[in-house]
Amino acid sequence: MIKIAPSILSANFANIEKDIKTVENDTSCEYLHIDVMDGNFVPNISIGQPFIKSIRKITSMKFDVHLMVEKPERYIEDFKKCGADILTIHFESCVHLHRALEHIKSLGMKAGVTLNPSTPIEMLKPVLDLVDLVLVMSVNPGFGGQSFIESSIYKIEMLSKWKKEYGYNYIIEVDGGINEKTIKKAVDAGAELLVAGSAVFNEKGIKENVENLEKMCR
Ligand code: DX5
Ligand code: ZN
Repeated sequence: MIKIAPSILSANFANIEKDIKTVENDTSCEYLHIDVMDGNFVPNISIGQPFIKSIRKITSMKFDVHLMVEKPERYIEDFKKCGADILTIHFESCVHLHRALEHIKSLGMKAGVTLNPSTPIEMLKPVLDLVDLVLVMSVNPGFGGQSFIESSIYKIEMLSKWKKEYGYNYIIEVDGGINEKTIKKAVDAGAELLVAGSAVFNEKGIKENVENLEKMCR
């Protein structure tokens, strides 16, 4: 079953409660994708722990937190305290990736690993038996509203193949440039959880946008 994870990066921060409630009450979405950017690992700054702590109080949706920060291992306990359900860290930002993923799991969160478009998917092989989720970045991380990078399809296909071949348990998630035109090919390649920011939070309306994306997968 295909699931959409709306990325609140494109939501209205001046009235975030309204957007989150609409996602929670008017769509079938279970996960809220939350992008944390530090202005170092990526060239943009977004939101951090206090914001997540605040929105934790207004929703019971699962928080899918995507950390785009240098040395994410410094913040694992913080994000647990904020209410993250899934904590995803970048291969490129973390020297002791295996240790960091084990730490995330030991605190009772789901551990996710992700990689930039220029990093080969094979680099993740040593941690695939450990993770609960693999996030394929289909844009260069840092901004919403960018175009889907086609070479991500191969990565999704490989993850899907390895999952079947070795019986891995990870969820295959894709993030960046997902819209009505691109969602089907990501799903056909094996994506199970689709992050969508600008394709969900726009003037057309959250409910209609999510329904349209879901329709495109059928
Ligand atoms: C980009 C973020 C994405 C972003 C996706 O660095 O990781 O989650 O919000 O935005 P869209 O769906 O607009 O490409
Ligand atoms: Zn993201």
